[in-house]
Amino acid sequence: MNQASLHRLLASSELDSPEKANLNKLFDLRLSTNLPIIQNLFLSLYPESNLPDSFQVLMELLPELFRKRSRNLKIQDLKRLKDANWYQSEKMVGMQLYVDRFNKDLKGVETKIGYFEKLGVNLIHIMPVTTRPKGENDGGYAVNSYTQVDKKYGTKEDLVNLAKKLHSKDMHLMMDFVVNHTSDEFPWAKKAMAGDKKYQDYYYTYPDRQLPDQFENSLPEVFPKTSPGNFTFNKKMNRWVMTVFNDYQWDLNYKNPLVFMDMLTNLTDLANLGVDVIRFDALAFLWKKMGTDSQNLPEAHRLITLFRMCLQVVAPGVVLLAEAIVSPQKIIKYFGEGISKGNECELAYNATLMALLWNSIATKKTHLLYKNLINLPSKPEEGAWINYIRCHDDIGLGFEDRYIYEVGWDAFAHRKFLLDYYGQKLDWSPAAGQIFMYNPKNGDGRITGSAASLLGLEKGLAQKNHESIIMSVNKILMLHAIILSYGGIPMIYAGDEIGMLNDYSYLKNKDLREDSRWANRPRQDWKTISELDKVDTPQSQIFHSLKRLVEIRRNTPAFADKNNLKLHPNANPHIFMFERTNDFGKGVLVICNFDETIHMIEVGTLTSMGYSSGGKLKDLVSGKKIVLKSGLLEIKPYQIFWLVKP
Ligand code: GLC
Repeated sequence: MNQASLHRLLASSELDSPEKANLNKLFDLRLSTNLPIIQNLFLSLYPESNLPDSFQVLMELLPELFRKRSRNLKIQDLKRLKDANWYQSEKMVGMQLYVDRFNKDLKGVETKIGYFEKLGVNLIHIMPVTTRPKGENDGGYAVNSYTQVDKKYGTKEDLVNLAKKLHSKDMHLMMDFVVNHTSDEFPWAKKAMAGDKKYQDYYYTYPDRQLPDQFENSLPEVFPKTSPGNFTFNKKMNRWVMTVFNDYQWDLNYKNPLVFMDMLTNLTDLANLGVDVIRFDALAFLWKKMGTDSQNLPEAHRLITLFRMCLQVVAPGVVLLAEAIVSPQKIIKYFGEGISKGNECELAYNATLMALLWNSIATKKTHLLYKNLINLPSKPEEGAWINYIRCHDDIGLGFEDRYIYEVGWDAFAHRKFLLDYYGQKLDWSPAAGQIFMYNPKNGDGRITGSAASLLGLEKGLAQKNHESIIMSVNKILMLHAIILSYGGIPMIYAGDEIGMLNDYSYLKNKDLREDSRWANRPRQDWKTISELDKVDTPQSQIFHSLKRLVEIRRNTPAFADKNNLKLHPNANPHIFMFERTNDFGKGVLVICNFDETIHMIEVGTLTSMGYSSGGKLKDLVSGKKIVLKSGLLEIKPYQIFWLVKP
């Protein structure tokens, strides 16, 4: 039983009428329930701190943070607590968007709530809207503040109103908490530059290269092309500062307990605006240790759990999403292990599934996909994945080398093939992608581009090749159908629902042109959207089919994420098959074909899984009964079945 379940149990007598609950008493109860864990984590991270009474300071801070939360949100917290693990529900479907590129500003997004309803999405991830440096700012991930809205997007009031409006429609708001770094214009950075020692200790700053050089021996580079190295010399401060991402993003020094407490305040202030899901950005990097790669360290996990346990005391309805785009075995740890099991992050990006789906598209084979997924330990029962195909970032090929060797390929050559396939180096490849941050030192590179362009729609349309267009539409739908049925919250990237192509306008902007991730941050095409119901185009086919799939998902309880996924490895190397079981034997068998030719599944295979033909199987995707004339189930290129028993 994790801490959230304990809170639910202890508060059970109050949860039926949250409006009448004694909110302060429940806060005290939560604090005393989480206190041993909070104390243990805090003191393990800050044992002999310069501030001997810092734990006492934290104890005084928590009630203060709770006091700042509005009564309405406190009541909402209790409703969420009652609605246990609400984020695992089959009803959850997300969309990620850039506010300005989607519809100008926060008010503009509010006017599109009807569009979300039409498509069936109810969790809206808006990308950073807080103040940031002019010019380069990593799409807002260089933060000048955690809660001040940049006027380009509107006001804080607009943000609060958007959250309220979404809640009134039973929708949820997700936002980023850029927990690892601030911009070099953040007030703390400015004070550090002005020579304030206290704030120099909020970051990793050094008078010379001695320690930075030692760190560099084991630190990898995140942006080797545009921001090589991990330290930047700051002339004003006359010191080196750690900048793992871009040179204008300063890494916060969590070895300092004051940083933790101030960031906890920023976190709860963000939650108090009405945010339901908080995306912990780049959280794998939170703790730095000399001689290591300073990623995924045990201290980082403890720190995240500490944030989680404190936030839970203040705002138990808010959940955390781990943005850990790291290797499969490491991602799963962000759900928590040992005493932290189920107490770290409720959600994590399924970057493993995402990267392997792209691998399967390029290779037309599914053995590597199975191998990686089968070898993953199962997540705690309270956790859920965020499943996605594309997001605003690049596609990293973060799966394990050893499995590539095990399927008989050379890992280095295979990764090169993938970069060539998506990066327009192979004439026969339908993909129109870009390469991101190629590092000639080690051959590492990542892939960017929109889903539709990577899946062949851009080339198909340019060549007016009807067959390629159909093929790419089917690929787009199949990948989306997989994330809609796999288990977890499917997150649609705004624009993908209408097959938007790469946007090359970034190449003309000096602040963006070095960062090919902008190829997949297009402006929402409202003109195309306004015509979707009137025309029959690839875009309208994608939209209408996706909308149907979303609706089916939301009406299929087996798709709720209750650790009810069963992978069915198949002798046919092009087929991906898995089952979502449920307690009443009413599961869904998902079968898809990653090849350009038709494949057959023998009836015996289906029967052995309890999906006996008998003429009564139904495919939810096409809405049709399955009639097997020859004892073989035929599956067309990039077709997906969601089979259910009668
Ligand atoms: C996350 C964001 C990415 C950003 C990085 C640094 O990975 O998704 O866009 O560049 O953090 O903040």
